[in-house]
Amino acid sequence: MDSETSTGHVTRKAVLRAAVAAGMAVPTVLMGVPALARTLDPGVTEPALTPECDDGDHPTVAQIEGPYFKPNSPLRSSLLEAGTPGVRLTVSGYVFGRACLPVSGALLDFWQADTNGAYDNTGFRFRGHQFTGADGAFRLTTIVPGLYPGRTRHLHVKVQAPGRPILTTQLYFPGEPRNNTDSIFDARLLMTVRDAGGAREAAFDFVLDVPQTPGPNPTPTPTPTPGPGGSWAVGTAYRAGDAVTYAGRGYVCLQAHTAQPGWEPPTVPALWRAV
Ligand SMILES: [Fe+2]
Repeated sequence: MDSETSTGHVTRKAVLRAAVAAGMAVPTVLMGVPALARTLDPGVTEPALTPECDDGDHPTVAQIEGPYFKPNSPLRSSLLEAGTPGVRLTVSGYVFGRACLPVSGALLDFWQADTNGAYDNTGFRFRGHQFTGADGAFRLTTIVPGLYPGRTRHLHVKVQAPGRPILTTQLYFPGEPRNNTDSIFDARLLMTVRDAGGAREAAFDFVLDVPQTPGPNPTPTPTPTPGPGGSWAVGTAYRAGDAVTYAGRGYVCLQAHTAQPGWEPPTVPALWRAV
């Protein structure tokens, strides 16, 4: 999400996020018209309608449901209850389709462990569902989930556009030591997380494989550009601060990891920042 801004392009997502962060109304032009923010680039004349999702997004990857999902969770965007212990966490973002348009009325059903790493399998503590608004935005208020044996820190979520298949996946926290040892962990599902006065503010945007007018146009995967040393390569162990090139652009590594297929720098903003 950050890579685009460094090129001078202002993406739809960036504008939407900035508008929400500032408490502003989302410009109507962004809510139902397939004019990607690329058309906002000053000095560049492009067609008013840009059908492709052209800011590096691929549909959000699916993950296993795990043993603790329960149907019929309460409708609520805050999972906090009186006296809830734990570090406060908000997760906000958008649900997009393949044309980078927001998906309104999308269902998001979250479930997670409590601060001790336990799931409530008899009641509905730390379980709740909500729907995106007209701008495709969601916001979850909860706590940072605790750890339990065998897993790194994570949230579970099911996301479903109206009348479409359910995406079941998980969201992860940067900088967790167990991210390196949890075989289920996928860096493409890392949230962007920042500290906020003792609480945590996380952001993540979902991209559903949902056709949208003017129709789905799968974004081709960029091919790594062969070149001198420093080109991003699968299997390389990168450390924070390492610089690479990918598809002709420069990126700097934000946290240590071993590169895997699908973790190309434009795809995983939690791992790579465009320079
Ligand atoms: Fe879990």
